[in-house]
Formats: sequence, C-alpha cells, structure tokens
Amino acid sequence: MENIRTPIVCMLGHVDHGKTTTLDKIRGSTVAERESGAITQHIGATEIPIDIIDNLCGPLLNKEDFKVPGLLFIDTPGHHAFTSLRSRGGSLADIAVLVVDATDGFQPQTEEALDILKRYKTPFVVALNKIDKIPGWQTTQNSPFQKSITKQKNKTQTKLEEKIYEIVGNLHEAGFQSERFDRVKDYSNTVGIIPISAKTGEGIPDLLMVLVGVAQQYFQQNLIVETQKPGKGTVLEVKEEKGLGKTIDVILYDGVINVGDQILIGSHQNPIKTKIRSLLKPKPTQEIRETGQKFQKAQKVDAASGIKIVAPNLDNVFAGYPFQVINNQNEQKIKQEMQSQVNEILIETETSGVIVKADTIGSLEAIVKDLKESNINIRKATIGDVSKRDVVEAETIEEKLDRVILAFDVNTIPEAKKHAKNKDVEIFTSKVIYRLIEKYEEWVQEIKQ
Ligand code: GTP
Ligand code: MG
Repeated sequence: MENIRTPIVCMLGHVDHGKTTTLDKIRGSTVAERESGAITQHIGATEIPIDIIDNLCGPLLNKEDFKVPGLLFIDTPGHHAFTSLRSRGGSLADIAVLVVDATDGFQPQTEEALDILKRYKTPFVVALNKIDKIPGWQTTQNSPFQKSITKQKNKTQTKLEEKIYEIVGNLHEAGFQSERFDRVKDYSNTVGIIPISAKTGEGIPDLLMVLVGVAQQYFQQNLIVETQKPGKGTVLEVKEEKGLGKTIDVILYDGVINVGDQILIGSHQNPIKTKIRSLLKPKPTQEIRETGQKFQKAQKVDAASGIKIVAPNLDNVFAGYPFQVINNQNEQKIKQEMQSQVNEILIETETSGVIVKADTIGSLEAIVKDLKESNINIRKATIGDVSKRDVVEAETIEEKLDRVILAFDVNTIPEAKKHAKNKDVEIFTSKVIYRLIEKYEEWVQEIKQ
C-alpha cells in the first residue's frame, strides 16, 4: 500500500531571528522562553497534525483539500547549520523555512543557510519575521496577512514593502527569483516571502497555508511511501537519558520501524548493528527534546516522524549518521551501501593535506565538499573535538600550508592548543563554514606573500 507521508520542514536562519518563536506560535507552547540563554541548543522535531493546521489557518484552507497528514517541523540551533539533517548526501528536509528578521535583514548565517539550500536544491520559503516591530504597526493577533496589512497606515505598508524588496534583492544576488507570497504565480520558480510575526501570530496562517500548498502541489510525488518498506532515517542527536542509557533521537523519513527490528547505523568504522528495544514518540506538538515530558511508547512508527530509539550499542553513534531497518536478505547489501556513503565523508589517508574536524557528519560533509571545490587537499576529516592526537598528526606534515587543522564548531582540548603552539601547527576555528575556509585561504595568501 502507498501512503502520503508528512513533509519534513526545517527552520533555518540567523541566530535570534525567531525560528523557535515561530514554532512556538504554531504549537502554542513557549519553548524559546524556557531555553537556556534562549538559544536553541539542540535540534528538535515537532509534529503538527493537520487538525491543528486547519484550526490555525481558518478560512485560508479547506479541510477537504488536505492530502498531507500534517507537517513535521525541525528547529535548528542558530549557530549550527542544518547540515546534520542529511539523507544520502541530500537534505533530509522536503522544504525549508528561511527565517529573516525584518529589522536585521540578511546576516552571515542567513547567507550560509542559503548556500546550503542551494547545494542541496531544497525548496524553501522566506518567513520575514518580526513585522510587529515595523514603526507604526497595528497588531491584529493571529490574523492572516491580508487582514493585517489592510489595517496599516500607508507609511507602514510602504516600510514593509521596502523590507520585502530588500530581501528580493538579496535573494536575487544569490540567484533566486522571489516575491511576496500572495503575488507568486508559480512556486516552482519563485521563492515566496511571507511577512509574519512570531510574537503576534500575524501571517502564521499564511505560512502554514503556503507550506501545505507547496508540498501538495510541487513535491507530492516525493512524499509517497510504501507503508511496509523497511524504515530509513537519520540520527539527529545522541542523548544519555536517565534510566534508559544512551538513546538516539532520529527522523524516520521512509518506511516503517517496529520494536524488535534490527537496524544498521552507518558509522566511522563498521556499520553498527543493534536491535530496537523501545520506540518513544513525543506527544503531538510537543518537542522531542523537551525534558520532563511524557513520551508515548509505540510498537510501530511510520515515516515521517521524529522518534527516540532506545537500543544497546549506541556508543559510537553521532548526529547525521544514517540508519536502516535490516533483515537477513538485505543486510550485506545495506552494509556496503552505508559504508561507501560514510566513507565519502570521513577521510583518513596518509597523504598530504589539511586536517578537518567538525561536530557532525553533515557539517563535515559540507566542509569536505567545499574544500574539494577549492582544490584544497585533505589528509583527514573526522568528527569530534581537536585532540592532542590530531595535533601530533599535523606536526608530522612537512608542508607548512598543510600543517593546519580546520575546526568547525568543536572545541580544542587545552593540551592540544598548547602543543600546537609549540609545534607550529595552525588551528583555524569558526562556526560558519565559509568563514572557516576563508580564514584559511587568507592565511595562505599571507604566507605566500
Ligand atoms: P536561535 O535558536 O538562537 O538561533 O534563535 P531563534 O531564531 O530560534 O530565535 P528565537 O525564537 O529564540 O527569538 C529570538 C528573540 O526574538 C526572542 O527574544 C523572541 O522573543 C524575539 N522574537 C522572535 N520573534 C519575534 C517577533 O515576531 N516579534 C518580536 N517583537 N520579537 C520576536
Ligand atoms: Mg531557536
């Protein structure tokens, strides 16, 4: 049997532009307020059933028109690219929402997010957030955009138009055609810009309407899944849970998974084989990462869903690793496929080149791709903090330009830092991928002069 699965929607954007608050408004909770330092620390997944979308959208959507069972939203931390949300080298997201603060406009991480969307060819819309901060804005709580905009004075309307055209200009520079959403004729070649306020809820119905509409009109064929197919997914996060030990939060994007199933997880060395002990689903509209919440135990879960898996043998699992349900017939084949996938990204050679360290397999993948495009050789690319071992390895490299470590969003162990200083090994760090590579290239230019 075939089924239409829930589209996976990723929230992307610069720090503090309002990704979490937008999701909060949709699910009626207050995750952003409770977060430490109000920064999203981990990737979370929230399932919004179609009934809630129907309620929020009101007359904008007819229930009979719904084909998708809901939307699965994934929030990403501001400092963290959504590159760990990968599936077979592509994006896990069916569609993305690029959140841009109307006051701040495009910022470095907005650019980076756009770069990644381009690379993965992920369709996206722009949520132009915080319109309530436009001088003179008159709020109508939770109202659709059309209703809100007619309440504004001409001057305020003009200001909003100016903001929109600034974004249209930014997107044009990046190679995208865009327009205010209600003027878009064809979403397959135009990015819709939806003015919203995550605080007052204005424009949120429109955002949901556009997401459901685009999913159903433009990529419904991607959402058709066979209900009985072995499940496939991606690890979002590895977490120690009291009483459960190591667990993994995953997104299941295809097929089905049952308690007792054997799964293979692609990893650094050999794929890890383990057996599902329990499947925990957050209750609808609750965050999978919220602590103290009640999970529901499930016997069986269909794609697409965010679930927590309890299983033994999860010690060497990292965010971004792929997994798949196996049986006796397909085990060998899947093992080979998985390993070749992972080996393209995790590099360990004895040749010359730089050493790369990153926090997740997804960010590593993005950096490795970019370095290769810039013709920079790589000796080693692995996940984790910069250790003394990394520095010891780097110091054996003769060529000064290769005697470097590029570290993306990981820490450098103090001992490693000290050792690097003594041994003339350069360590470059950044939380933005293109900045990391730029920093290295600038340094190379200096040396060559
Ligand atoms: P990171 O997770 O750190 O990347 O940030 P984020 O994009 O999730 O931003 P978050 O939702 O935490 O919002 C940042 C700040 O902006 C918070 O103080 C919010 O209350 C505020 N904010 C978000 N949306 C709006 C909005 O529409 N209007 C106003 N006035 N403030 C907003
Ligand atoms: Mg956040």
